[in-house]
Amino acid sequence: MLSPLLSPSMMCVDYARFTETLALFADLGVEYLHVDVMDGVFVKNYTLGTDFCRQLRRLSPIPLDIHLMITEPEWKIAWFDVQPGEFVSVHAEATDHLERALAAIRQAGGRPMAALNPATPLCALDYILDDIDAVLLMTVNPGFAGQRLIPATIGKIADCRRYLDERGRPDIRIEVDGNVSFENARRMRAAGADLFVCGSSSVFSGDDLAGNIRKLREGWNA
Ligand code: DX5
Ligand code: ZN
Repeated sequence: MLSPLLSPSMMCVDYARFTETLALFADLGVEYLHVDVMDGVFVKNYTLGTDFCRQLRRLSPIPLDIHLMITEPEWKIAWFDVQPGEFVSVHAEATDHLERALAAIRQAGGRPMAALNPATPLCALDYILDDIDAVLLMTVNPGFAGQRLIPATIGKIADCRRYLDERGRPDIRIEVDGNVSFENARRMRAAGADLFVCGSSSVFSGDDLAGNIRKLREGWNA
């Protein structure tokens, strides 16, 4: 089982405490910073973008985990100036050319990740396993923070772990995104998730960010 990694969702950060939050994350060994990019078309919302990624890299040594909720991402990867070690995820539902989008991420030096909405079956991964380092399973419908977990996605995490292992890919990570609360994080971990997008329901709930991170990690070790 791959070790559990944290990827706090930067759309949930309190911007009045932005730099101190980034310093705290670095001190606590947070592994990734999750950046949600929405285009108002694939999902009905706007969030962060290319300039935000550039600024974030200037302010923090933590690698980015860029979640592209945008149509036709294959033509837009170049806009992001992807750095080595960064994850970039593209949605299978957002393009007719998923392989091309994943190849563009690899070509740019990033770590490609295929993202699936809750209702998208795992067979979407059948012919791209050589092209990815991770799978992102949405555990809510993408677009907004603060939603409730879709219960069927817990079983989907377990199915996905089995699917990858049976195909000789225990190295491919499973990221979960949406309502990763303290309790849900434990259940997701037990089902086989190992990269956790933590937003308003855990890391950014209340003021004690360090305590929240400790609580998540203790939950996984319990
Ligand atoms: C969308 C976002 C949200 C959110 C996660 O992709 O990543 O899912 O920030 O945090 P919650 O669901 O806890 O608000
Ligand atoms: Zn996300």
